[in-house]
Amino acid sequence: RFDRAIRPKSLADYIGQQAVREQMDIFVRAARGRDEPLDHTLIFGPPGLGKTTLANILANEMGVTLRTTSGPVLEKAGDLAALMTNLEPGDVLFIDEIHRLSPHIEEVLYPAMEDFQLDIMIGEGPAARSIKLDLPPFTLVGATTRAGLLTSPLRDRFGIVQRLEFYGVPDLATIVSRAANILGMEMDEAGAREIALRSRGTPRIANRLLRRVRDYAEVKADGRVTAEVADQALTMLNVDSSGFDHLDRRLLLAMIEKFDGGPVGIDSLAAAISEERGTIEDVLEPYLIQQGFIIRTPRGRMVTASAYRHFDRVMPRDLSSSA
Ligand code: ADE
Repeated sequence: RFDRAIRPKSLADYIGQQAVREQMDIFVRAARGRDEPLDHTLIFGPPGLGKTTLANILANEMGVTLRTTSGPVLEKAGDLAALMTNLEPGDVLFIDEIHRLSPHIEEVLYPAMEDFQLDIMIGEGPAARSIKLDLPPFTLVGATTRAGLLTSPLRDRFGIVQRLEFYGVPDLATIVSRAANILGMEMDEAGAREIALRSRGTPRIANRLLRRVRDYAEVKADGRVTAEVADQALTMLNVDSSGFDHLDRRLLLAMIEKFDGGPVGIDSLAAAISEERGTIEDVLEPYLIQQGFIIRTPRGRMVTASAYRHFDRVMPRDLSSSA
């Protein structure tokens, strides 16, 4: 797939997230200098910001192999044991959605992370025995949407914790231009900026929109992506001027129309738009909060004046004074 071609493979090619990049560069070099594995690393942040990409880069920079699994996939302790006993010294074991590990598997992970020791039960009933195995020293890289979803014993076992932030427009424009180059597209700076502006601060969305804009440019124009072509394509895709998609608008409009702007509890909101609470919390809300369209208060979520303005609506007076 093309996705692989446009993913950066080194920290030097990784755009934005400057603090993360600078810190990881130091930690990787120090570990390599000491000929040790990189310390266990937790990466958290909203979906699509490059957590998996960063895990791949860390393995590459360490010169080791990356093994990938995810929290919900690991059902039995034996699944995790099989993965860990097959690691080479220094390898990176990447566990995506690490907050969804079962408590039982989490407990197997603790001694593995701390002492590279595997402590598992084999057999059942009176014949059950516990066996201890030495593991090769390895690096656990865990990814999650919110650090707060992890139990504290698990979180405390990561020596490095990195938070990925939404990307600013200039960084996203650079990412889009780089991907366009790799895809052999013709696109001017204003075209890249238009896509960047409407990608919710998220490289995964930017790269997806880029492909759809390319389709549009090839069929409806001469293949060249300008700001005008990008705008037409994105408008056709229902991505509005702030980069909000259908779901973002549904959420904001529900808050305005059904809850008078809030405060409204997350479960009422989920019911009102027929979405899972987790989708609102992990996917929709982080960007809307970061952009100042929603605020969280002790009594629930509220929309801000920016949200009313976005839809050309007048904000009720009593709300503007209590917000
Ligand atoms: N693709 C996804 N995330 C990226 C990043 N941070 N830099 C470059 N390309 C990317």
